Amino acid sequence: MYRRYERFFQLLPRPLVRFMRDTYLAFLDLKDRFTGKAGPLTPPRSLHFIGAGDFEKIGEVFLGHFIKVGSLKGNETVLDIGCGTGRMAIPMMNYLSDSGAYHGFDISKKAIAWCQRAITSRKPNFKFYYANIHNKEYNARGTVSAAEYRFPSKDNSVDFAFATSVFTHMRRGEVEHYLAELNRTLKPSGRAMVSFFILDEENKRLVRERRAVYDFAHDLGDCLTVDPITPERAVAYNLEDLTRMVANAGLMIKQPILFGSWSGRESMLDTQDIVIVVKGQAGVMRNS
Ligand SMILES: C[S@@+](CC[C@H](N)C(=O)[O-])C[C@H]1O[C@@H](n2cnc3c(N)ncnc32)[C@H](O)[C@@H]1O
Repeated sequence: MYRRYERFFQLLPRPLVRFMRDTYLAFLDLKDRFTGKAGPLTPPRSLHFIGAGDFEKIGEVFLGHFIKVGSLKGNETVLDIGCGTGRMAIPMMNYLSDSGAYHGFDISKKAIAWCQRAITSRKPNFKFYYANIHNKEYNARGTVSAAEYRFPSKDNSVDFAFATSVFTHMRRGEVEHYLAELNRTLKPSGRAMVSFFILDEENKRLVRERRAVYDFAHDLGDCLTVDPITPERAVAYNLEDLTRMVANAGLMIKQPILFGSWSGRESMLDTQDIVIVVKGQAGVMRNS
């Protein structure tokens, strides 16, 4: 069902989809307010842009992945790239101890203001930063280029970083710079979990057979997208290009890549493809 809706929305002009989405979410927010369903740690739905799915449940599931697959410990320093309305931060409030620290940044001013009000006020070791970065889908009026943005973390200070459904909305020069920032900020023992849409041979075949949710039919040279007018709506990279970008940033992909279900293949973790990167010798892959 989700696949059918997703394909249908891809046929509509983006401003119309945004209008329909915002109206629908504003209605649900109103309903939540009147029924008392929204608790103090429930962000208004109109502030998040994370598609269908249960906000709380997905956050809990990902915390499990971070612990099991990313070896996250309760006393570590975490960086959440594109944290949105704290979907991943909220379950972490009960996991990170006072000696741990969470830093999240995003380009949505309202989302960051909500996180500061709702989360930092309860957990001072959870910090949120706003960056007015341009992104045609999420912050069309932004004035800062993602390709020049410096993460709000010191060199070699982060144990565990993640970006869930963020690099899937970014162009190549931006992704390259964020990977370099990951290399700068991760400790030598640091790990990062980053979701992508990856076109390896298997995913390309599934796309050709129309079994994937996205067709990534538009090759813009620097990336593949579903929408040439608003490319940031969904962006994919060929596996060879991604491997090169990661290596050029001084990072390594830890094998195996955990392919997702967006392409129609059986999910190894999520709907998107998840890559674990660690610091290392350029071009060398390290097994777990
Ligand atoms: C699909 S949402 C995912 C939000 C969050 N990571 C989650 O999983 O709930 C994409 C998020 O990426 C943010 N974003 C887009 N481009 C960004 C950039 N260059 N740097 C940081 N955040 C960005 C958007 O504002 C939005 O909050």
